Amino acid sequence: METQVWRDLLDPYDLAVKELTAKFEHLRYEYKSRGIYCPIEQVTGRVKTVSSILDKMQKKNIEFSEIEERLEDIVGVRIICQFVEDIPKVVHMIHERKDMQVHHEKDYIAHMKTSGYRSYHVIVGYDVQTMSGPKTIQAEIQIRTMGMNFWSTIEHSLQYKYKHNIPDHLKEKLLKAADAIVVLDNEMSSVRDEIMDAQNSMQIQANLISEILNNIQNLYRLANQREIRKIQEEFYQVYQENDLEKLERFHKQLDIIAEGYRAQNVDFGCGEVT
Ligand code: GTP
Ligand code: MG
Repeated sequence: METQVWRDLLDPYDLAVKELTAKFEHLRYEYKSRGIYCPIEQVTGRVKTVSSILDKMQKKNIEFSEIEERLEDIVGVRIICQFVEDIPKVVHMIHERKDMQVHHEKDYIAHMKTSGYRSYHVIVGYDVQTMSGPKTIQAEIQIRTMGMNFWSTIEHSLQYKYKHNIPDHLKEKLLKAADAIVVLDNEMSSVRDEIMDAQNSMQIQANLISEILNNIQNLYRLANQREIRKIQEEFYQVYQENDLEKLERFHKQLDIIAEGYRAQNVDFGCGEVT
């Protein structure tokens, strides 16, 4: 098969991966910049390689003309969550979206695969706009916890190393490890509320500090040096006290001062989105 033919086939898929990952990452940004806990921890995406497409075509007896219909994972998006409870939230988000149509779902969390693999898959239809018009393509969105991702990454490497014939003693170890991940995920769930609270206040504090510093920087050009020095000293004091309420109050006061000088500036980088 000519390279150009593959390029023509895969170009829209490349666009879809870029758009889908950007959209999920932006959702994450929206949550974080508002200081709200985000069920999405990390997003990655890839287009299936030609060699892996060829492997699957051979394995499943698929003709070139059937690729787009029968290979549902040419676009692969992976959403990593901190807790198992975040997974249905992400699935719900996908169902609610107007730009993705859910075709079907595979729940390998309720039904772990015999290998020990756990993940929730949603296969969606997604429209991209190409040079020759709109095109609907399939995308596989895999949603899993960090623990599940750790397991499947290791297992995938072993599958590759042993060419899908992992020796029995290793398979057993992997199954034990998969059970241990279930226990780990459950343990983490039991402290979820506490972890979420801590992360939320950390995020709110980081956003506040970034906005305060941004306002101080803008005031440098407009306010007199004595006032700036006073503001900076005050900020340093509030900062050292490590009290979120005081920090919020200081932020409000500074915002009023900045408004007076027309020094407010919306900082889209508002950085500390961790
Ligand atoms: P393939 O497994 O890719 O041939 O597709 P399928 O039609 O059988 O669908 P399935 O839902 O089984 O797998 C889809 C994707 O999930 C795979 O491409 C992998 O990324 C992942 N996956 C499924 N099973 C396993 C597994 O046992 N181990 C690992 N590491 N990943 C798996
Ligand atoms: Mg499979």
